[in-house]
Amino acid sequence: MPVILGIESSCDETSAAICIDSSVVSNVITSQSIHAAYGGVVPELASRVHQQNIIPAVQQAILTAKVTKNDIDAVSFTRGPGLLGALLVGVSFAKAFALARNLPLIEVNHMQAHIMANFIEAPKPRFPFICLTVSGGHTQIVLVKTDFDFEIIGQTLDDAAGEAMDKTSRILGLPYPGGPLIDKYARTGNPEAFHFPEPQIPGLNFSFSGLKTAFLYFVRDKVAANPDFLKENMNDLCASIEKRIATILINKLKKAADQYQIKEIALAGGVSANTGLRNLLQQTADQQHWNCYIPAFEYCTDNAAMIAMTGYYKFLKQDFVGQQIAPLARMQF
Ligand code: KG4
Ligand code: ZN
Repeated sequence: MPVILGIESSCDETSAAICIDSSVVSNVITSQSIHAAYGGVVPELASRVHQQNIIPAVQQAILTAKVTKNDIDAVSFTRGPGLLGALLVGVSFAKAFALARNLPLIEVNHMQAHIMANFIEAPKPRFPFICLTVSGGHTQIVLVKTDFDFEIIGQTLDDAAGEAMDKTSRILGLPYPGGPLIDKYARTGNPEAFHFPEPQIPGLNFSFSGLKTAFLYFVRDKVAANPDFLKENMNDLCASIEKRIATILINKLKKAADQYQIKEIALAGGVSANTGLRNLLQQTADQQHWNCYIPAFEYCTDNAAMIAMTGYYKFLKQDFVGQQIAPLARMQF
């Protein structure tokens, strides 16, 4: 029954978790509210706040799991991709903890870990499956052939889906991060109220920058004609843009499922917390007879449970790294 400590610090969440075998027994997530005032994550501030939060987060994770430091068998950490200074805090902590206790170190790719979040709770996807990973920095369709055999079969050519949510919400005057607010307002809005274009991108790739620009011009012109336009239409605007982003994502997912003849479909990453996207995936899964998998809310956005869980599977393979390991802002699969 290995006990794995997981550490996540790739962006603006400091998180620590404990897995015993394949069971997550604690998952402490400390968010950084400081960035809201700046309209986006400020990398230098993020690393400073990670430094303040990392030890309390680990202490809390150990306490909640009802284990002691002596029970921990290995330390897994996010090596990348992410903000270099932010990653450095988690990587340095993991290395120091492992060195002091003579424990093996396990590096984890953050994007693989988002996919692995689907293995935290039952039912778990069966291989091969296709995963749509949608976060603030990435939008990928990944073919997962077997354990740790990942192939990116589609990805965004410009903005990520989460970025599209955050940038369009900013146009609406909403604070950062806007994705959850679009979700909130969209629930009482009409998704058919406004129509925004679906980009025609070949293959399984995505593009969101044209949609963002179309949205910007649309809102600008409407506000010029009626200064109260945003106030009067906020819920409908959120519902309409959310629906367009969700349909762009699900249409490509359908194309991937057809192309690879796969009916095991998973969702991962922060944007998979979005209600409109989850509902559309569920509807499509019913129509297409897919078995679909969506992690619980707390495992969709950045969290260390997915890092500890991925660490557990790597621990079984004895896939360890040495103390010379350094974080990577860009990290390939
Ligand atoms: O995976 P994640 O937590 O961090 C990254 O690795 O990027 O994803 C963060 C992204 C942000 O763009 C945020 O606005 C978006 O996920 N997000 C949402 C929702 N919750 C988080 N977007 C739409 N609806 C939500 N409920
Ligand atoms: Zn993430």
